[in-house]
Parts: sequence; C-alpha cells; structure tokens
Amino acid sequence: MNGNEKNTMLTLALSKGRIFDETMPLLKAAGIEVLEDPEKSRKLILPTNHANVRVVLVRASDVPTYVQYGGADLGVTGLDTLIEHGGGVAGGVATTGLYQPLDLQIAKCRMSVAVRSDFDYAAMVKQGARLKVATKYTTIARDFFATKGVHVDLVKLYGSMELAPLTGLADAIVDLVSTGNTLKANHLVEVERIMDISSRLVVNQASIKLKMAHIRPLIDAFAQAVDARKVG
Ligand code: PRP
Repeated sequence: MNGNEKNTMLTLALSKGRIFDETMPLLKAAGIEVLEDPEKSRKLILPTNHANVRVVLVRASDVPTYVQYGGADLGVTGLDTLIEHGGGVAGGVATTGLYQPLDLQIAKCRMSVAVRSDFDYAAMVKQGARLKVATKYTTIARDFFATKGVHVDLVKLYGSMELAPLTGLADAIVDLVSTGNTLKANHLVEVERIMDISSRLVVNQASIKLKMAHIRPLIDAFAQAVDARKVG
C-alpha cells in the first residue's frame, strides 16, 4: 500500500454478533456490503464491495482502543464499552481522543441493577447497608452508587454476572439487560435502571482531518439511515 492508498483506505472496527449484524443495514444504506460472513470465515480483515473500505473484527471492548490509536478509522461500540473505556457520555470530541458523531440507535438495551428475588434491596439501601456488587462495568457501577450515596464493594467479573448473587459472591449485579430472559432464568429481579444503552459510531480524530472527504459521506449516510428508521 503506498502513502496515497493508505490515506484513502477506510478501516471500520466491528465486533462479531449483535453489533456486526445491526451495523450491516446501515453500511448497506451507505452503499457498502461486506463480502464475507464472519460466522463462516476465520479472517479478521473482511473486504467490502469498495476496494478502499474494509472491516476489521475485534473484541467488543477493544473497539475504542483500535479507533483511539488509529488501528481503525471508525468503529461501532456500545455506550457501556465507551464509558468503561473512558470516553464518557458526551457527544463530540471525548477526552480519549475519540470523536463520537452519532448514536446509531442499534443494539439497544439497558444497564441495570439486579438482585435475587428474595433480597430486599430497597430496605438495604434505606438502612444504609454496604452492598457487595459484582460487575464487568465498574466505572458505571461506581458512579451510579456514588451518586446515590450507597456504599459498595465492587467485585470485578468478566462474564456470567448472574451467577454472583446465586453463589453468595455478591448481593447485587450491574449488568446489561435486553429481553430480561437471563435474569428471569436465574431468579433475579431488576431493581434499578441505570441508563439506556445503544451503539455509537466513533471516529479517530486524526482520520477525521486526514480522510474527511471519505468519512463525511459515510457519517451522513449513517445519519440518514438512522433518521429514516426513526420515522419508519
Ligand atoms: C448480556 C448480559 C446478559 C444478557 C442479557 O450478555 O450480560 O447476560 O446479555 O440479555 P437478556 O436480557 O436478553 O437475557 P451477552 O450475551 O452480551 O454476553 P456477555 O456475558 O459476554 O456480556
């Protein structure tokens, strides 16, 4: 790749699963089609019908890192991941150097507090008890309980949070809830809704300047597709 090609090549970082699947229609609206199925291929760099646009598959929590340090020009990442990365909830240029031009309104869910159905959360909070909270989302959990004035001991986990209250590891969990089926299957109840979550488009700040002519149309097409969905 020579210098010019490198400047016109656009790399989009996505994670497999819901974010990848729900980003495809938005890419399509921008005239871009990914030519390989990530569920069938083991390739990590996927070509598109545009020679100068490619998709890289990374772990969901690595998307902000790839975009921040220029491993990708753009990425799609959940607000939860962005906050935990340090990107904050503000639009525009965040402190991490990631430009956040768009809420794509995809992969929607919520961040909630859940406990065992036999745990009286309201009473515990009222009496000022210290709660043990297990979560992957320590920044969000710490901020939420600090604002509420509840003292917590956080236990960092990387998955299967629902197990923590069932095994006595924690009194409560802070986790993503979509349908609520996982909580129900594990006899947990949602007691607080911390925030609504959706996926955001993030852009590397240097790319915005150097590749503006290529990135702007993509952002505009995404924005139109998001708006069309709201109306439709
Ligand atoms: C998320 C979350 C819950 C589940 C909630 O896990 O951590 O376990 O989805 O969805 P539901 O309300 O529709 O049941 P995910 O499958 O994304 O995997 P993770 O544990 O790796 O985050």
